[in-house]
Amino acid sequence: MDKIIVRGGAELSGTIQIAGAKNACLALMPATLLSEEPLTLTNAPRLSDIATMGALLASLGVEVSRLQDGKVVALSSHALSSHVADYEIVRKMRASNLVLGPLLARTGQAVVSLPGGCAIGARPMDIHVTALEALGATIELREGYLHAEARGGLKGARIDMRFPSVGATENTMMAAVLAKGTTVIDNAAREPEIVDLAQCLVAMGAYIDGAGGPTITIEGVDRLHGATDAVVPDRIELGTYMLAPAIAGGSVDLIGGRIDLLGAFCEKLDAAGIDVTQTDTGLRVARRNGTVRAVDVITEVFPGFPTDLQAQMMALLCTADGKSVLEERIFENRFMHAPELIRMGARIDVHGGVAEVTGVPRLKGAPVMATDLRASVSLILAGLAAEGETVVNRVYHLDRGYERVEHKLGACGARIERVSE
Ligand code: UD1
Repeated sequence: MDKIIVRGGAELSGTIQIAGAKNACLALMPATLLSEEPLTLTNAPRLSDIATMGALLASLGVEVSRLQDGKVVALSSHALSSHVADYEIVRKMRASNLVLGPLLARTGQAVVSLPGGCAIGARPMDIHVTALEALGATIELREGYLHAEARGGLKGARIDMRFPSVGATENTMMAAVLAKGTTVIDNAAREPEIVDLAQCLVAMGAYIDGAGGPTITIEGVDRLHGATDAVVPDRIELGTYMLAPAIAGGSVDLIGGRIDLLGAFCEKLDAAGIDVTQTDTGLRVARRNGTVRAVDVITEVFPGFPTDLQAQMMALLCTADGKSVLEERIFENRFMHAPELIRMGARIDVHGGVAEVTGVPRLKGAPVMATDLRASVSLILAGLAAEGETVVNRVYHLDRGYERVEHKLGACGARIERVSE
């Protein structure tokens, strides 16, 4: 398995191109199941999670091809051959559950494996199930699989989500676009990936109003047609690379970066003493003066501070001036990077969902273990400013969500290499 070796201490300077959003692309790809006509996605990221979704769709009979060096995903669902999302694929990636809504809407039946435990928490699917049942589906759990049926078709309904789940909102939107009548989703997720999915579905002929706000209204149509859609820039990749010059010093331009994708995160960077400026091409990030100040962070649903940037933010705060308190409110087990950062000399106390980070002047390189996607990259970020060598083992998680991380950071002067074993 590959590992990444980082030799800390080099200031960064240069530009990084931000790729299309993994999480948006993972929701857009299953939208192909809703139409017999082709769906083409441009600005797709080249990541193993995208390949996994491609393999899942192919197992359902979708024709999947990658064009233009992988940046374009061409999908055609003119002849579906299966409605079963197998455990062997779903267990690799929870987002596989996003085929449930569109399969049910198109074929009246879907059998989707439950994803099983995940490194960052239990991650149940009750909100997906309740919403689809409200649309008239019958859903049973048998032998680890959700068996969903709506033989007579789905019917629009008013759905009040108990929590604004991103995946459940996406599944419900994809089911409701082909349901008879009007669906209203209250307490819907408001993430930019939801807006991106709504734009794509509208381009395919759906009627959707209010995406990006708490109430989404959908008028069902009989059929959707083909479309071409561009994937929104990846706000989590953006935030991750914004933290690189904040941690290592220097100045980096992030091409394609937009403050509106990361408002709450940018406010915290400002409070920590990091300047973020909008340029003609994206965002420029640099420290305001030499020091980074401690800040308190609470993860929340959009537009709050994203849970997917909590680990990376912790890497910054490990060497900040003072004590920071990070509270994780989205996932119950998302501080697995803390013990690894402690191995690098960080001072972190975790009590339940709260981590207290007391800044130290410098971290020290160490062999560390990546436990999940965002944890892996937080260890690389920490290594950028650490004294000596940091070896991040088990980096397969990293390739799920970051395109060529060693090239992107290396081009800005980071001393980073991938070693294959
Ligand atoms: C998506 C993102 C993930 C991000 C998360 C929160 C994708 C592919 N992944 O995941 O990177 O960290 O949003 O921003 O887009 N929950 C339930 N029951 C449900 C569904 C969710 O209790 O039926 C809980 C989860 O356990 C979790 C919280 O709700 O504690 C948030 O989950 P959700 O918004 O659904 O996240 P995902 O869509 O899985």
